[in-house]
Amino acid sequence: MRNRMIAGNWKMNKTYTEGVVLAQGLAKELADGTGDVDVVVCPPTVDLKGVAEVIKQEGAPFSLGAQNVYWEESGAFTGETAPGMLTNIGATYCIIGHSERRGYFGESDEDINKKAKALMAHDIVPISCCGEPLEVREDGKHVEFVVDQIKKDTEGLEISDPSKYVVAYEPIWAIGTGKTATADDAQEVCGAIRKTLAEIFGQETADGIRVLYGGSAKPENVAGFLEKEDVDGALVGGASLKADSFAAMVKAAM
Ligand code: 13P
Repeated sequence: MRNRMIAGNWKMNKTYTEGVVLAQGLAKELADGTGDVDVVVCPPTVDLKGVAEVIKQEGAPFSLGAQNVYWEESGAFTGETAPGMLTNIGATYCIIGHSERRGYFGESDEDINKKAKALMAHDIVPISCCGEPLEVREDGKHVEFVVDQIKKDTEGLEISDPSKYVVAYEPIWAIGTGKTATADDAQEVCGAIRKTLAEIFGQETADGIRVLYGGSAKPENVAGFLEKEDVDGALVGGASLKADSFAAMVKAAM
């Protein structure tokens, strides 16, 4: 029904040269294929072309994703990247709404919604992130906080192919901290996300949308998350920066 997905978010790590080496290493580790698991690698923008070339040359079994996009087609938006530029370079996925973009760069749910629409118009699959800060979790309001994000981020979207929209639940307190949510924590929120998606888009569509967990996911803990009914994979930060650890996570999902 839903293929599992393991996506690597390199964040602001790896120069162009280092990125090519990492992508080559990953191509080697995954040379035997990834079965039914969809694997996505999201390098920094300047590395996209280098990684695209590795994928092509090595016939690597992973797809290319960007970490951000702007919603306009072209024009005077210094420093930004248009969806058509991503398509042209071979990217088929794009992370949007990461908590680091929301927190450090002031992105709103409205921005994220516009980005999703722009990407989908270009047939790029959004990996749309949501997740609560620690104080919201401590208040016990995490489910309603994330449900509210989902409603705003998906407003007016038309999802005809549910495999082409991905949600990543990343509790902010678990990102890069080594403090992982438990598999039950992840299931509680991922289940609520799917229920919300079903209310908006209908059950059949919601059943086809992948919901990933992210936040200190690593080879040692990924299998526990994947056992949960509504967790379809992982969005991986730190552990995606080494070919062997990322490949181990892909293999755990196979
Ligand atoms: P870490 O896996 O390093 O905690 O990062 C998670 C993340 O933010 C992926 O987008």
